[in-house]
Amino acid sequence: MNTAISIDTPAHLQVDNITVSYNGTPALRQVSFQVPQGTRVAVVGPNGAGKSTLFKALVALLPLREGRIVIHGLPLGHHKECVAYVPQREDVDWKFPVTVMDVVMMGRYGNLGWFKWPGKHDNRIVAHSLDQMKIANLARVPIGELSGGQQQRVFLARALAQEPHILLMDEPFTGVDASTQEATLQLLDRLREEGVTVMVSTHDLNLANTRFDQVLLLNRQLIAYGDPTRVFHSENVVKAFGTHSLVLNGTNGIVVDDCCPPDV
Ligand SMILES: Nc1ncnc2c1ncn2[C@@H]1O[C@H](COP(=O)(O)OP(=O)(O)OP(=O)(O)O)[C@@H](O)[C@H]1O
Ligand SMILES: [Mg+2]
Repeated sequence: MNTAISIDTPAHLQVDNITVSYNGTPALRQVSFQVPQGTRVAVVGPNGAGKSTLFKALVALLPLREGRIVIHGLPLGHHKECVAYVPQREDVDWKFPVTVMDVVMMGRYGNLGWFKWPGKHDNRIVAHSLDQMKIANLARVPIGELSGGQQQRVFLARALAQEPHILLMDEPFTGVDASTQEATLQLLDRLREEGVTVMVSTHDLNLANTRFDQVLLLNRQLIAYGDPTRVFHSENVVKAFGTHSLVLNGTNGIVVDDCCPPDV
């Protein structure tokens, strides 16, 4: 738990009343929250809750119908390179003819000036990122030939190469083995030491409950945001998932503390 964070810490990511729509139908409605620098946030909610939509809005891949996103006090767009995004694996065209090295170097593009080629410094950072994720041996391999866990590591290496202040990861724990999951969590620990803010969407409520500072519970609108023990209150869980069974059965080991009031 990150004890250094208090409500007085300035928010480095501020989301004010955003609505995001597809073809006129809102997928996220009037969502507001603030994330202090260095916080590790789990984004949870059922399928179709708008988790991926939120991440895409945070990197301006989707327009806002209303509201605003402020990063380090400036509107979205002023700090593109400081937000790294690891997409949900289904959202990636794995047939795209690029190698692992190419993908990781893409993490440096935001740091390069116009018409600049990657220099020695960029090559060093890319090599270090590949090493950190233990995929240096795969550098020349086309991404289409990788396993799911290896693909995950490539995207994490790309995110590392970007040297972000804010890292968004969409379902990095889905379909990966225990060692890739642990490598991802260790990476998050290292990033925490560097003060990087991390938002991770996951369906693993137990992980959200035990390994994150804050939980953001979504179901097309913000159901609750805050300390895991407060967010996983039965009322909130029912609002998001529409069922008591998660609460009663303790699915994934979730312990719902009924003593705390809902915290939105
Ligand atoms: N490109 C799109 N065009 C139209 N509707 C979309 C599009 N992408 C997402 N949606 C809709 O927006 C809603 C939110 O989708 P989103 O992918 O953000 O959910 P999610 O919480 O990430 O779900 P999952 O857990 O399945 O990944 C869903 O109803 C979905 O059908
Ligand atoms: Mg999704």
